[in-house]
Amino acid sequence: MSKRKVKLADNTISAEEMASLADWLKQGHQVTKGPLTRQFEAEFAAYTGTKYSIMVNSGSSANLLMAYSLLEAGYLRNKKVIVPAVSWITTLSPFVQMGFDCFLCDSDVKDLGVDLNHLEQLLKKEQPALLILVHILGHPNQMDAVRRLCAQHGCLVIEDACEALGSEYKGVKTGALALAGSFSFYYGHHISTIEGGAITTNDDKLYSIMLSIRSHGWSRDVPEADRQAWKKEYHIDDFREFYSFYYAGYNLRSTDLNAYLGRLQLKRLPEIAKIRARNFELYRQALPEFWAQTSEGGFVSSFSYGTYVKNRLEVSRYLLSQGVECRPLVCGSMGRQPFWIKKHGVTHLPVADKVHDFGLYLPNHANITPEDISHVAKHFREVAEPI
Ligand SMILES: Cc1ncc(COP(=O)(O)O)c(C=O)c1O
Repeated sequence: MSKRKVKLADNTISAEEMASLADWLKQGHQVTKGPLTRQFEAEFAAYTGTKYSIMVNSGSSANLLMAYSLLEAGYLRNKKVIVPAVSWITTLSPFVQMGFDCFLCDSDVKDLGVDLNHLEQLLKKEQPALLILVHILGHPNQMDAVRRLCAQHGCLVIEDACEALGSEYKGVKTGALALAGSFSFYYGHHISTIEGGAITTNDDKLYSIMLSIRSHGWSRDVPEADRQAWKKEYHIDDFREFYSFYYAGYNLRSTDLNAYLGRLQLKRLPEIAKIRARNFELYRQALPEFWAQTSEGGFVSSFSYGTYVKNRLEVSRYLLSQGVECRPLVCGSMGRQPFWIKKHGVTHLPVADKVHDFGLYLPNHANITPEDISHVAKHFREVAEPI
């Protein structure tokens, strides 16, 4: 009998979906961004319960586009941002690249979102224009309190929901909980378009600016009213219209090939989210002596099962010998990453440090069965020392 293998991530694109894509490609469509991308965007916005969504080529591009567009929209009163220490490099790096002062916020002990006391301290002391949240491993931040604190201090809030597609806070989906939200459709995420991502928002002005900056800074994709208004303001004639740039943009577009897959994947998302939530619960029941992440929001479309152990290296080696992959809890604390230390020295934060030193996550994806979880939990308990 071959040894059971439990990988950290697995393909979400089925053989049937690939075959369907191949048939579609053979029909000879123009594959660049076109009607399917717009259809995917409408469907994705409907799923998250937002007015708009914008498809891009990765979750990192989504974060970059949100950050630069907020700046260009004139929404930020200064270039100061609070970023969770436990996040992802491209949650933070757009702000570093754009010359923001970045303040790392410690993590909440239960949900690993922002710690409310530390958030309040940073808001009072630094008066930043912006907070970007990350819903770690699918668990929503404490949005009521976050919104209240940020409103008190005039700080805008956006979400990096790349690990939380399908999760809900009090009945509202992530991505619809703040001014704008980002998603990733990379391999191993809830749905995949090979590479891919999206931004959601209800804000008309930001939407137009993001559509422009996604594609070079031109106005071709921008809703008609804004397109005409911009054209008029800068006295652009019809001949020059397609080659006029209103922003110093990027090219962050995706393609209809990716959108074709995205539309198929989106149909399966509710089922995928349910399996991930079930798996999280099975892990929790199977590992009662280990710390488990909890959150107040409601439905958790779990990304993976995070916990703490004293002996991570030993655990990871032993699990691998049993066919099971595991990894650090996201990537620990940004305040302890080489790129940060080079510039600022080490930033110590108690909970983020604990995640950095003892955090580990176990596999969860839609192809993991209850039997896989029993296998992982059995071998994990044989060697892991709880904290
Ligand atoms: C919180 C978070 N933000 C952003 C990203 C980047 O997404 P992508 O790999 O699509 O660029 C990731 C990737 O895992 C992530 O976990």
